[in-house]
This record gives sequence, structure tokens and C-alpha cells, in this order.
Amino acid sequence: MSDQPRLPRHVGIIMDGNGRWAQLRGLPRIEGHREGAQSVRDVTRAARRLGLEALTLYAFSSQNWARPADEVRALMQLLCDYLRDEHDEIMDNQIRLDAIGDVERLPPHVRDPLDALRAESAHHTGMTLTLALSYGGRESIARAIRAVAADVAAGTLAPDDIDVDRFGAYLPTTRLPPLDLLVRTSGEQRISNFMLWELAYAELVFVDVMWPDFRKDQLHEVLDQYAARERRFGLTSGQIAARAELTADDSDVET
Ligand code: FPP
Repeated sequence: MSDQPRLPRHVGIIMDGNGRWAQLRGLPRIEGHREGAQSVRDVTRAARRLGLEALTLYAFSSQNWARPADEVRALMQLLCDYLRDEHDEIMDNQIRLDAIGDVERLPPHVRDPLDALRAESAHHTGMTLTLALSYGGRESIARAIRAVAADVAAGTLAPDDIDVDRFGAYLPTTRLPPLDLLVRTSGEQRISNFMLWELAYAELVFVDVMWPDFRKDQLHEVLDQYAARERRFGLTSGQIAARAELTADDSDVET
């Protein structure tokens, strides 16, 4: 990997292709999820070493509840095993584990260790690893709107004060840095209801690799792609170049 001159602060990943990875090998789909859990471990470790501030993984969508019951059960068991097996890794590496989504729907054998590890790691400052569980971007926005409406009804929020920043504070991602990079594996080019609000200015990278084959090296490759992108946030290239010069001048003065 080349040097990382521009590391994203926050990376989100749609971990797609577990089922196809398994089917291509004549294996049951759950074997793809099992191997995918190894990718979660590998990518998390690599992200932490690189110094990412936040990594958000789409592990189970609101819509995934409609999958065959035995696949849902197996995924819940994998999550439960993951929380048990990664406990020490998370604690020893100052990782703050968090979750977004309708986590109340998770069965107790997942929700209990999840809540416990969230609480135990809440003070960590190293990297925030957020698992999107029973998560949907539209559901998340709808939930935030309900909370906004409740505050307006209670008289603690004036409708005229609702702007992008104020609304964003009602989303569960409010404690995270802005999403800089969204990666989807498996070659599919869709967002599938993931972080719809948060990805407004994220760079998108779609990779032709199934999630179980996405490891440290593939993470480094997408970070290289990100570093080569020009992010304009609605400005022109010329404005971006002028800003970069100003920043360089400022740091010259300081040193
Ligand atoms: C999408 O692939 C993947 C999922 C719905 C589940 C992701 C779960 C894991 C990576 C393992 C468990 C997670 C953790 C955090 C330990 P798919 O099944 O839709 O693949 P397909 O499109 O090829 O069928």
C-alpha cells in the first residue's frame, strides 16, 4: 500500500456477497457468513492499526428479518459468538463498540452481550466500531422524525430551528465523524437502505470482491482509491485548490 496522505475519518461498509461466496464453493450460505465474520475481524484490526476514527459495518438490515428462519438464527448465533470471541480484542485495543438500528428486536443472547460490551467499552477513544443491526436508513430517519415531532409537541423545539445540523443530532450516528467513504463488496452497485442521510457527501467505492474475500489488503486498496479522489462538497476544483494553499500557508506560519 502507498502512504496514506488522506485517510478517511469514517468508513462504512456494506458487507455483501457472503451467500454467493458460499454457493460458488458448493457450501451452505451460512459458511459464507462464517467466513464473512473472519473478514470483520481482519478489517477491524487493520482499520484500528491504520488509525481510522470510525468504522461502521452493515451486519443485519431491517429487511434481513424476512430471510429464511434458519439463516436468521445462524446469523444471530454468529453475532453472539463474535461478541464473545472479540471481547478481549476490543477491550485491549481501546475500541468503542456501538450499535445502530432497532436493537430491541435482537434476541437476548445477542442483545445482552452487545449491551454489556457497549457499556464496558464506552469510554474508549481509539476507534468506534459501530455494528448496524436490525438497521435501515429510512427507519432511522423515521425514528428521528418521531423524536423531533415529540420535541416540537412538547414545546422544546421550534419548527423554524430545524436545520441540517439540528436534525442530524437526532440520528444515532450523531456521535460519529461525517461518513467519508462508503464501500460495498460483491460488485452490486446499490445502497440498500444504508446510512441514507449520512452518505450525502461520502465517496462511494464498489468492489468486485465477495465480503469473505475482503481482508486487510482490499481495505488498503479502497483507501488508496479514496486518497486519490478530489472531494469538492459542491465547490469547484479551483476553490478546493485555493483552500489547500491557504491551509498550507497557515501551517507554514505555525511552524
Ligand atoms: C450480505 O451477504 C451479508 C449479510 C446479510 C450478513 C453480514 C454478516 C456477516 C458479515 C457475519 C456476521 C457479522 C458480524 C459483525 C460478526 P448476502 O448474504 O446478502 O450475500 P449474497 O448477496 O451473496 O446472498
